[in-house]
Amino acid sequence: MPKKDNSNPRQAPISAQPRIHQRAKEIQAYGTVSHALPLELEEPVRLEMTEQLNQLLADTMTLRDLYKKSHWQVAGPTFYQLHLLFDKHFNEQVEIVDEIAERIQLLGGISLAMAPDIAETTRIERPPRGREEVPVQISRLLDAHQIIIGHCRQLSSRASELGDEGTNDLVVSDVLRPNELQVWFLSEHLVDVPLVQAEDPGMRRAG
Ligand SMILES: [Fe+2]
Repeated sequence: MPKKDNSNPRQAPISAQPRIHQRAKEIQAYGTVSHALPLELEEPVRLEMTEQLNQLLADTMTLRDLYKKSHWQVAGPTFYQLHLLFDKHFNEQVEIVDEIAERIQLLGGISLAMAPDIAETTRIERPPRGREEVPVQISRLLDAHQIIIGHCRQLSSRASELGDEGTNDLVVSDVLRPNELQVWFLSEHLVDVPLVQAEDPGMRRAG
């Protein structure tokens, strides 16, 4: 009978028993990129881009969560429209998060993913746990958009400069433009116009 080879741990006896509670060393450390990828983009370029994209990712994940917080906690006469608008923007930010994270992975890097890592990395101010009034909710969202939009402008030109047009295109088309549009929809809610009666005295007399 041939001797059984136990040198390879993968050749364990076949069993229907699930092997749960497993742990092992990481296969790639955070902050590194795979060496050999046929992308015609040098490793230092991919290192810089993935680092920048992770910052953008952390800020976008924070903005996404700020939208859900606002969706749940909004109060007042504009509750219904804002409840729906905040959730629409949340869903769009979910898509953006996925686009950024997968760009980092395809460049050979590692995307941030977990809430504690996002909290340590984001530059967006942490809101209180409690509820805030609508103008404050919207202001917080606009401040977060401003951080992301500013970063997009800087990152897109840096990506172009380094020859990473894929990142440039993603940042402009999939992050910058939707963020600009969301800013418009939000900021119009902070214009102080009368709800029912015009404030112009001439108009009031005419009425
Ligand atoms: Fe909901």
